[in-house]
Amino acid sequence: MRKNIKNNVSWVGYIDWELREFHGTDYSVFNGSSQNAYLIEEEKTVLVDTIWKPHGEHFLNNLKQEIDLKDIDYIIVQHGEVDHSGALPALMREIPDTPIYCTANAVKSLKGQFHEDWNFNIVKTGDSLDIGNGKSLIFVEMRMLHWPDSMASYLTVDNILFSNDAFGQHFAVEELFNDLADPCLLEKEAMKYYANILNPFSSLVSRKLDEIAGLNLDIDIIAPSHGVIWRDNPTQIIEKYAAWADAYQEDQITIAYETMWEGTTDLANAIAHYINDLSPDTRVKVFNIAKTDKNDIMTEVFKSKAIAVGSPTVLNDVLSNVSGWMSFLKSLKFKNKKAAAFGCYGWSGESVKILQQGLAEAGFAVVDADLRVNWNPTQDDLSQAEKVAQALLE
Ligand code: FEO
Repeated sequence: MRKNIKNNVSWVGYIDWELREFHGTDYSVFNGSSQNAYLIEEEKTVLVDTIWKPHGEHFLNNLKQEIDLKDIDYIIVQHGEVDHSGALPALMREIPDTPIYCTANAVKSLKGQFHEDWNFNIVKTGDSLDIGNGKSLIFVEMRMLHWPDSMASYLTVDNILFSNDAFGQHFAVEELFNDLADPCLLEKEAMKYYANILNPFSSLVSRKLDEIAGLNLDIDIIAPSHGVIWRDNPTQIIEKYAAWADAYQEDQITIAYETMWEGTTDLANAIAHYINDLSPDTRVKVFNIAKTDKNDIMTEVFKSKAIAVGSPTVLNDVLSNVSGWMSFLKSLKFKNKKAAAFGCYGWSGESVKILQQGLAEAGFAVVDADLRVNWNPTQDDLSQAEKVAQALLE
């Protein structure tokens, strides 16, 4: 079933209330998601993106109820990742000669995934496609937002920016528009999406936002490929991205740890206590890495000005959950944040040094203070947490 967006532009995507994992199991999707595809019906009929293969049959059947597929003049593929291109092979079996407009890199990703040589028409930033009735689509390459093949498309006259993954959220919203969605969940999911998918490319995001601003486009609607369509104050999400891309932080410190026999838990709680004692206005959050969703913790790290990471020593190393978490932390390339390490040990005690090295490699400014405690912490050991808190707050 289509949903009208504006004039002759309709949403023809799929709202996936059941989805709980994305990118395999690497991204949690607690509020579902959507794959947004769009149909533009001017003198030319244009399909902007498709949806994920598991819902491909549903997508094609819906589309057939709205139009004769043979009436589609152009297909715009803004990004080759299969959540947007998965239904393309089934569609192309029905209309095999229909021209596909995409970036040169998207030809590579589509051919690499589907091994088909469709009627590709390569576009680059500034190229436009006349779709009749005085309207055209102007293309803007969005390289590394978040793949090398990504692009956005701007529909003139209606002033709609189809932004693909950029400005999206994994968030199922039947009402479709930002002014109708639950505002708390929208803010949370938009930030989680940025922190966990786009943050590594923040310097490119800043440059791309400047480039988009330089195009002086009137933007009435931003229509991403996941989650809400921004029609109420649509550029608010561009302003948020500008802030998030600029080494974003709030007055927050996040403590993430895992424990074997609760000694490292005591250290985490002691650091949290002293941060609050020394700086009551600073928000402190404490998470057990093994018990908390990693994407949610990373969103809290994204908001933080400093973090503390803890693990006991086991087999001359940190706990395996912490190793994996540190690897993910490094890949997200956070900037301008301090970090401290802590942990208990019984025998060899390497965990704190390993964490400090890992935090430095992940781009954090590791403070001088740490908390490395033999066996269970005494009251005197716990009081040393004040030095770690102080160092993180300075
Ligand atoms: Fe990069 Fe929504 O796919």
